Order: sequence, then structure tokens, then C-alpha cells
Amino acid sequence: MASNAELIVDGKSYSFPTLEGSEHEKAVDISNLRDQSGYVTLDRGYKNTGATQSAITFLDGEEGILRYRGYSIEELAEKASFLEVAYLLIYGELPTQIQYDAFATGIRRHTLVNEDMRKIFDGFPVNAHPMCVLGSLVNAMSAFYPDSYEGNQNTDLHITRLMAKLPTIATWSYKRSQGHPINYPKNELDYIANFLNMMFALPVEDYKVDPVVAQALNVLLILHADHEQNCSTSTVRLVGSSQANIYSSIAAGVNALWGPLHGGANQEVIEMLEEIKEGGGDVAKYIDMAKNAKTTGFRLFGFGHRVYKNFDPRARIIKKAADDVLSKLGVNDPVLEIAKGLEEAALNDPYFVQRKLYPNVDFYSGIIYRALGIPTNMFTVMFAIGRLPGWIAQWKEMREQKEPIGRPRQIYTGSTLRDFKAMGER
Ligand code: SDX
Repeated sequence: MASNAELIVDGKSYSFPTLEGSEHEKAVDISNLRDQSGYVTLDRGYKNTGATQSAITFLDGEEGILRYRGYSIEELAEKASFLEVAYLLIYGELPTQIQYDAFATGIRRHTLVNEDMRKIFDGFPVNAHPMCVLGSLVNAMSAFYPDSYEGNQNTDLHITRLMAKLPTIATWSYKRSQGHPINYPKNELDYIANFLNMMFALPVEDYKVDPVVAQALNVLLILHADHEQNCSTSTVRLVGSSQANIYSSIAAGVNALWGPLHGGANQEVIEMLEEIKEGGGDVAKYIDMAKNAKTTGFRLFGFGHRVYKNFDPRARIIKKAADDVLSKLGVNDPVLEIAKGLEEAALNDPYFVQRKLYPNVDFYSGIIYRALGIPTNMFTVMFAIGRLPGWIAQWKEMREQKEPIGRPRQIYTGSTLRDFKAMGER
């Protein structure tokens, strides 16, 4: 690899150092570009721009590889629990039994949410979108734990509180939307069983956690746990770089994830598949609409990815899990066959092949969530529960690396200097 890169502009040559990561990704370090040449770079959407160096997650978009701290997503999804993966992402190593027990016990002991948070929750309209509620209440946590921004950071305690309380808060919207009483966490249950119990238990009958459902959720949360510098994670790092507290930084990530081009896509996919089903299942019509997006404005949600120009490895695992879970639960969901038909048609269509558009993590996940009894408007909340350890790990790394405050440059295209005109002269 070249040890430096040369830029020749305005007849002058500038040299910039290059660097290579542990997986041989290459970069040109342009930290001094403007000081040396007076030029900045322009890279809309940061398609070619690295924001940081990170040791948490590696993904190779061409090869369809995803690893957390060096462990393959395939192995983690098959052999690990979600809390083990959360510990791995946040603290860098798979936990020993003692470390795991301390982490899980700490989380168990913080699942209760301050009752005053319910007063904030009660102020939302009944049909408030669960992502709006989640982002607001996660941000509100900084008001209940001011030591998150006053002096002593107690970072590990706030990490425990976030991991413990986000699932509890997440269930509130669902219970109220059903007109059912909110359930309190039960400390004798493990992380996923506790979430399922808070979601589906009713005071009028016992609720038994189905191991098939719990295992499916374990895999889904692991697959969503981190994804290097995606939109919401970059948001968490940018907000955290101003020294904003961890709750406000994570809340910013929740809000970024909500967008339909990002985590909100899993809800859009199911709504799209339902529309196709209601319309008679004419997959070809929707493929054509997607190909003529400039006139139809239609996008095939769950397809395409900024980094993956091959299959999203998570989509492969989720697609297989969808078949397994639905057959084990005896669920026959016609949209699964429509999804497979759509995938088949797209993967054989030159428009998608040329643009390397493959199913992404959101394409099949909603089909499993629905089979687990989770309503569509809660799908992105499930994504947030999964992504939380990744956001935390990236925020923690940014702080430990003492990253400077993020402040991108721009190219100004507005009016040049002009004199003020009194109202009567305009
Ligand atoms: C997630 O970054 C991450 O890691 C995100 C994520 C994570 O784990 O954090 O993986 C989670 O957000 C997955 C993506 C979920 N979003 C969707 O499924 C929404 C549908 N997909 C797209 O909107 C799009 O593919 C993006 C937003 C995901 C990526 O957009 P890019 O990289 O900016 O690509 P682009 O919009 O410039 O598209 C390139 C071309 C365009 O065509 P041309 O202008 O060249 O003619 O591909 C076309 C686009 O029109 N295209 C699509 C398409 N996605 C891109 N055409 C039809 N359907 C699509 N879904």
C-alpha cells in the first residue's frame, strides 16, 4: 500500500499520509488538507468518508461479512445470548461466567423505571408512535440521573440503566395501545423472557414464554446489535462528541433510527408487502414501480444498502429463521411467500443487479416479529432494543478515544455580501 497520497491542485502538489486497518481497509488521512491546500472535500452522505477508527464492528460490503469484535455474526447468532453479545460489544471481550453474572444481575436490578417517568408517558396521545415515546423517554432519563452530566460520569451504571430500562419503557406503548395494564419487570426472568412477559402477560391469565419465541428474539436482537458507522450510530457519536450525556446521545440515535430509510424500513417493508398482498400479489408491478422510482416515487423497502453490495449476511440468517420460526409456531403468513417472490424477481432483474441491490436486514425481520405477536409499529422499537449495546459501545469508544467535537465543513452557495434594505424598499 502506498505510504502517502499525492494531491495536485492549482499547480501545487500536496502529500497526505495513508493508513491501513486490521482488515486492510485503506484510508488517506486528510486532517491537514485545508491547512495545506485551502481545499475541503465534499462527500454527500459520507459515502467515501471515514469518520473515525473503531475496533468494535467490521463489515465487508463486497463479501457480505459482519463481525463484532472479530466474532462472525453467524457464530454469535447460533451460539451466544444477546446479553453476552452486548457485553462483548461494550467491553470488548466475551464475558467469563463471573463477568456475565455481574452484568446480567446489574441489569436485572435496574429494570424498574422511576414512577415519575409514567407521568411523562401519560402525557402522550394514545396513538403516539412508539419510537417518538421511546426517544423522548430515553432523553428524559438524563433528568432522573443528573450525575450523567454533572462531574462523576458513573458510565457503567448508566450503561446498566439504559440496558435495563429501555425494554421496560418499550413495552409501555404497546400495553397502552391494547388498553391493557402496564406490566412491571420480573427479576426472576432473564432479559428476553422479562421483555416478553412485560409485553404479553395479562393479569387475567398466566403467561408462559415460548422458548421458540425467546430464541427467535435472541437471534434478532443479536443481528441488530451493531453495524459500525450507520446513520443512527454516527448520530450517537456526533452528539456524544459535544460531551452531551449518554442518555441524550442514545436518544438522538433512537430518533435517527426511526427514519424510513434506516431502521424505520422494517415497518415500511411489512406495510409494502401487505399492500402488494391486498393488490392481488402482483410482484412484477411493484418491481416496475421501483425501477421507475423517479416517476413513481416508490422504493422497494428492505432492499439496497449503503455498504452491502452483496447479500446482507443478517438477511440470510433472518430469512432462514423466518421459515423455521413460522413453521415451529404453526404460523402461515402469506406475506412471507410474497417477500420471497419479490426477492426472486428483484435478484433476476438487471435494474437491481446493476445497482447491487439485495435484501437487507429489514426485509424479512418484520415477518418474524409479526409471527411473535409484535405489532408493526413496534418493529423499529425492536430494532432499537437490539441496537442499544452497539450505540453504547460506540459512544464509550468515542469518549475513551477522546475524539474531537464533530463539526463538518461545507461549501457555501448562498448570496454574497449585500446591504440591508428597509422594509419599505423591499
Ligand atoms: C438499515 O447503514 C447501515 O448499516 C444501516 C443498517 C444498520 O444495521 O444500521 O444496515 C440498517 O438502515 C438498512 C437499510 C434499510 N432501508 C431500506 O430498506 C430503505 C430502502 N433502501 C434505500 O432507500 C437505499 O438502498 C439505502 C438508503 C438503504 C441506501 O441508499 P444509498 O446508498 O444512498 O443508495 P442510493 O439511494 O443512492 O441508491 C443507489 C441507486 C439509485 O438508483 P440511481 O439513482 O442510480 O438510478 O439504487 C437505487 C436508487 O434509486 N435504489 C433503489 C433502492 N435502493 C436504492 N431502487 C429501488 N428500491 C430500493 N430499495
